[in-house]
Amino acid sequence: MWQQKWVIGNWKMNGSNAANRTLLQGLFQPVNAAAAQVYCGIAAPNVYLAGIKEFAANTALAVGAEDVSQFAVNGAFTGEVSAQMLADVGAQFVLVGHSERRQYFQEDNTILLEKMQNSIAAGLLPILCVGETLAEREAGQEEQVVAAQLSLLAEADLSEVAVAYEPVWAIGTGKVPVTEQIAAMHELIYRQILSLCGKDVKIRVLYGGSVNAGNAAEILAVSHVDGALVGGASLQADSFAAIIQAAYAPA
Ligand code: PGA
Repeated sequence: MWQQKWVIGNWKMNGSNAANRTLLQGLFQPVNAAAAQVYCGIAAPNVYLAGIKEFAANTALAVGAEDVSQFAVNGAFTGEVSAQMLADVGAQFVLVGHSERRQYFQEDNTILLEKMQNSIAAGLLPILCVGETLAEREAGQEEQVVAAQLSLLAEADLSEVAVAYEPVWAIGTGKVPVTEQIAAMHELIYRQILSLCGKDVKIRVLYGGSVNAGNAAEILAVSHVDGALVGGASLQADSFAAIIQAAYAPA
């Protein structure tokens, strides 16, 4: 099992050239200081990726995309950005199936499997995002929902799987599941991946949803939590740096 924790920021549709530089400048020192113990990355809007990659050259910060086209081959798909293009500008990983993509763009398992396959073919590591809504949890369906979201992994032929468990009701709300809920779901995700992909698969399961400087150490100490996917708190250098620190110096 990998020991290194992952802390990945998800900037969503935020940023500007000037703001990105200020934020990144505040991150390089904490990211480099943590590099032996923590893999740090940010997923940023596509238009900024090349600039960020250049600015972050010679640092330990990994750079990724927030989404990728479902279309495998470059061509007449106006507005789309292919996995090859993301790799070409230096992206190392890509979020696939974030709940905001599922909600606003109706991304289902068929589309997400294509996105996973395109990413892998281009040499990007896909991070598959899964998670239940509040209504689904209240109906006691969270395990079935997450299992159904993971089922596409059976088709993807992976030797390495990265998943982010992000309960939809915890994203951007300040509400966080109790540690027992996180532990139970992460264990279920591990079990599902092993049964879908075989026992030799390398697994990494991040938790996401209102992770902040105050709760990161507790969340990262939960069993089967291999890292964090951080939205709002990744937009400030000091809070993101504090989360990185919590990943190797648990309080
Ligand atoms: P949040 O977002 O940390 O702002 O809750 C997490 C995410 O959507 O990845």
